[in-house]
Amino acid sequence: MDRKLDELLYALMQNMTLAVSGEKLAKDLGVSHSTLVRWIDKLREAGIDIRGELFTGFRLVRLPDVLLPQLIRSRLRTRIIGRNLYHFYDVDSTNTFGSRLISHGHKVPEGTVIIAESQTAGRGRLGRSWHSEREAGIYFSTILFPKAPPSLAPLFTLATAVAMHNAVERYTGLDIDIKWPNDLLVGSKKFCGILSEIQAEVDLVKTLIIGVGVNANHEALPAEFADRATSLRIASGRLQSRIEILLEFFEEFENIYMDFERKGPRGIIDQWTRFSSFANGRKIEIHDGVRKIAGTTRGLNPLGALRIEDKNGRVEEIYSGDVVHWE
Ligand code: BTN
Repeated sequence: MDRKLDELLYALMQNMTLAVSGEKLAKDLGVSHSTLVRWIDKLREAGIDIRGELFTGFRLVRLPDVLLPQLIRSRLRTRIIGRNLYHFYDVDSTNTFGSRLISHGHKVPEGTVIIAESQTAGRGRLGRSWHSEREAGIYFSTILFPKAPPSLAPLFTLATAVAMHNAVERYTGLDIDIKWPNDLLVGSKKFCGILSEIQAEVDLVKTLIIGVGVNANHEALPAEFADRATSLRIASGRLQSRIEILLEFFEEFENIYMDFERKGPRGIIDQWTRFSSFANGRKIEIHDGVRKIAGTTRGLNPLGALRIEDKNGRVEEIYSGDVVHWE
């Protein structure tokens, strides 16, 4: 956890245009000069442009786009989601960190969110890796303890897709689609992926960690996925505020999650169906890990499985997989 670096950066941000003396910073943070210099170096390594030195004072050259808990907390409109925050400049993976917290027996309040500026081992679905360029994306995981059986776990991933769909449409004005089960597309290219991981007993989800990666401000994507992936910046032609998208998401997700706790899955299924062009009448081919299933989509069942009708009129319900081809 990089809490001390956050405090230092926050202190520098409070004095944007002025140099703050090293002595004052060290005193306010309760550390020695040498520790302060070490932390300044760490922030610089994390790409933050800080001018100056111990004796002349330190100053930020430009306001950095960092998802500082101090900035998020002061604007949170939620009751549980994001109330407890961890923030890293570098972490292996926010999902992995979340499961370490749980397995080491830390007391983790529901709605805890782990945010990273960059990940060294970001993970995608089906064992893939997730490209996690510093500052460009939003990489975060939310920890939940839903009172639900494991069979309902996929619904929370659909709920996350719906919440991010709503957040991004509201903030950017872009037209967003959801590709089953939970990729978010803009102009038919993916800009957001979701990786949900559960620890469960046979009839109860003990912990659910939902990791979300949003390509927000990438100027370009690596050549190997440039034909199918994009960023909100590329799609809209302008820089996007990561913090605004995150705050919108927290609020949207909390509403949908509370609605589930009060009324069950209906709200999630209805919204997903409304916002995804893949829900009905779409010719697709899914790979479920074992075989390929081709047909026309016929909506979700009450557990969030996708109904597919094959050419003989037989309907199958698919719980997980990858859409490998679509028209
Ligand atoms: C996918 O589409 O394959 C899912 C990608 C999920 C990426 C996010 S980034 C934050 C969280 N931490 C991870 O290691 N993965 C998820």
